[in-house]
Amino acid sequence: MSINPVSDEGIASLWTGVSRFPVALFRQQLELAYRGFGLPELDAKEAVDVLSAADLYGIESHGIALIDYHSSGYRAGDFVPGAPLTVNRETPVSVTFDGHSGPGPVQGSRAMRRCVEKATESGICIATVNNSTHYGMAGYYARMASDAGLIGVAMTNSGSLVAPTFGSAPMLGSNPIAVAVPAGAGSDGIVLDMSTSTVAWGKIAIAQRAGKSLPDGWAQDKTGRPTNDPNEVGALTPLGGERITSGQKGYGLGLIVDVLCGPLGGGGSSWQVLGGLGNGRGSGVGHSFMAWRIDAFRDPEEFHTDIRQMIADLHASPVAPDVPSDRVLVPGDIEAATRRYNEKHGVPVRPQVLDEVRAVCDEWGVPFVLTGE
Ligand SMILES: NC(=O)c1ccc[n+]([C@@H]2O[C@H](COP(=O)([O-])OP(=O)(O)OC[C@H]3O[C@@H](n4cnc5c(N)ncnc54)[C@H](O)[C@@H]3O)[C@@H](O)[C@H]2O)c1
Repeated sequence: MSINPVSDEGIASLWTGVSRFPVALFRQQLELAYRGFGLPELDAKEAVDVLSAADLYGIESHGIALIDYHSSGYRAGDFVPGAPLTVNRETPVSVTFDGHSGPGPVQGSRAMRRCVEKATESGICIATVNNSTHYGMAGYYARMASDAGLIGVAMTNSGSLVAPTFGSAPMLGSNPIAVAVPAGAGSDGIVLDMSTSTVAWGKIAIAQRAGKSLPDGWAQDKTGRPTNDPNEVGALTPLGGERITSGQKGYGLGLIVDVLCGPLGGGGSSWQVLGGLGNGRGSGVGHSFMAWRIDAFRDPEEFHTDIRQMIADLHASPVAPDVPSDRVLVPGDIEAATRRYNEKHGVPVRPQVLDEVRAVCDEWGVPFVLTGE
């Protein structure tokens, strides 16, 4: 059936039977947990801003669902609450930070804030953070720039999950790229926020829990052969899948993200990232951020008009038959509409995630407040 995926009906159909919580209560739960992990008050609020944004945008894999992973990282000492963000090197248009294994959402927000400040002064800035930890959704940081009227880019590497083309072992992370393009007041602009693997690891875990087989092209087994069995996955495929379906392009994109997030800032590549696996060996994730002023190139109002026209032209372009949408979308449409819906109707949290949040609260001795709906 073809529906409007950015209508209330279209969004609600994806979340039937899931409990929803008022935004303030949802944020309170996250803040209690991250204060419990030992984050100072302002850092906890910053982490909550990033994680709650993911759930508001409907990116359920990168919001409160990370709490169990983060809990094990803090327990093991892989993530260090209150760690500083220090400058290794700086020019008027660049800055390289060391994150000292601090909370990724906090270090990422601080780094992008500084990147935007410097870009506002100089026209453009590129920032890197090495020695950081998992920072959640890349799009949050790209939007920090576009909210300030600049074009923003955010990337990160992660532990090894993705096999290179013709490879059998996971080497690259799912290394996402996010680009946010503002189009002036009243427009959501364009926000591309995508991993460079065919699917995120979370989709394999969902299939494992549901006992469902994987679609062709998502993953390979430990010998490097394609697999549809979610319990036999040795590596994800790069975006595009196998060589015949252009997986080499996703591999190349993931590799470039790795270069800009790892070695450029003095950090390691994905296969050197320890990933904060709760083993006390640290994390070593790296991030990269870019921001540039539109008025360094042309009049911003004219640029906004052109971007709005591009969006309008794509929205008005013809729809293919037999697709699950009655319209063509642009990147960011679904997330923007989902955020508006969730702000009004509450933030959805699936039952299994609620169980994990309750268990983490018990472990750290903090109140569990996501009761009732
Ligand atoms: N921190 C990490 O290590 C890490 C690693 C991987 C992914 N992530 C995050 O995971 C999240 C999900 O990534 P993903 O790759 O699963 O994203 P996705 O495949 O759900 O979406 C990718 C992009 O496609 C756009 N899109 C979706 N449907 C569309 C349509 N019909 N037409 C046009 N555009 C459309 C979305 O707006 C989005 O910009 C992202 O926020 C990403 O930053 C984080």
